[in-house]
Amino acid sequence: ETVDWDPETAGKSGYDHYMHKEIHEQPEALRRTTQGRVNALAGSVDFEEFEPGRFADVTQLHLVGMGTSYHAAMYAASLFATRGVPAYAFMAGEYSLSQPPVTESTLVVAVSQSGETADTLDAVRRARSAGARTLAVTNVVASSITRECDDSLLIRAGPEIGVAATKTFSSQVTALLLLCERITADITGTASAESRELLESVARLPGDVQAVLDTSTAADVAEAYAGSEAYFFIGRGVAHPVALEGALKFKEISYEHAEGFAASELKHGPLALVTERTPVFAVFTGRDDEMTLNNVKEVQARGAPVVAVTSHTDGDVVDVADAVLAIPPTHPDLAGVPANVQLQLVAYHAANRLGRPIDKPRNLAKCVTVE
Ligand code: G6P
Repeated sequence: ETVDWDPETAGKSGYDHYMHKEIHEQPEALRRTTQGRVNALAGSVDFEEFEPGRFADVTQLHLVGMGTSYHAAMYAASLFATRGVPAYAFMAGEYSLSQPPVTESTLVVAVSQSGETADTLDAVRRARSAGARTLAVTNVVASSITRECDDSLLIRAGPEIGVAATKTFSSQVTALLLLCERITADITGTASAESRELLESVARLPGDVQAVLDTSTAADVAEAYAGSEAYFFIGRGVAHPVALEGALKFKEISYEHAEGFAASELKHGPLALVTERTPVFAVFTGRDDEMTLNNVKEVQARGAPVVAVTSHTDGDVVDVADAVLAIPPTHPDLAGVPANVQLQLVAYHAANRLGRPIDKPRNLAKCVTVE
């Protein structure tokens, strides 16, 4: 008698796909990302990678990346901006072509899971030769980008096999949020009271993500809207990059048409695409929700079904939405992380019911080392 033992399945610890396994590894990945770095009581963030005050001279940040890493860069730029620190996100491939002016107090943050993406490496090289300081935020120790940059911060998500990035996005966003708290404190010389509250939420984040994994109704939502003409994702503030990432994941692995928009952008074109056959996923963070609710009403008036990703359990958002993907209540700066986990699950289940090769989507590579 022989026992069936398939090394492929063993590597997936019983999951059908690496992507599904990696989605479920997120609480653990986030614990590693934050391990030893968060002092919620003091409201401070410590990195063994660099000493306190290291970034005190920084006057502006350029955050560069591609694909999912670009979305994490956008998320971080939004966080810095709300703290009064000038920060801008660029697609690395575009940054290289028309590089904005930098000085020695410009910190160029290169966000790259692999640390090997050609466009991102090129952006870093150009920024360095123009005189900027550089910092790599990466998952891979001793990757090319860590050698190219002055400093490196590891996101510690663990190895990711699925081509579609999942746990590394959550860890990137969380590491960048900690970096944001740290740089803001370095610049201002103090840790703020708001920082304590935020860092308490960071400590709860792995549990919040676990709660999403344990209770998600994403499979039902994917089933309910299967066969739609297109799938749209909207959000504002940090929920804008989450909407873009939700759409990217959906198109990458399901091959269905999916687009993400800033909620404010709808009226300026995308609304022309909205019909009863285009479900709209609206991401609510707990900040500016009334404005996003207005956008939801606009798409509903055109007949589109709306799936709200929200921590609200009653009230207008829940009453108006056709379906809800619930996230635990958390700080609005962080809510994008559990919200994105819901959208990862929707994409996964939509692709799975279509029988797509989820871990190796057609035409795509985990790491793009050519420009
Ligand atoms: C490829 C991958 C994406 C990834 C992007 C950037 O397109 O398929 O998942 O987000 O490259 O990769 P990086 O390793 O730089 O984060």
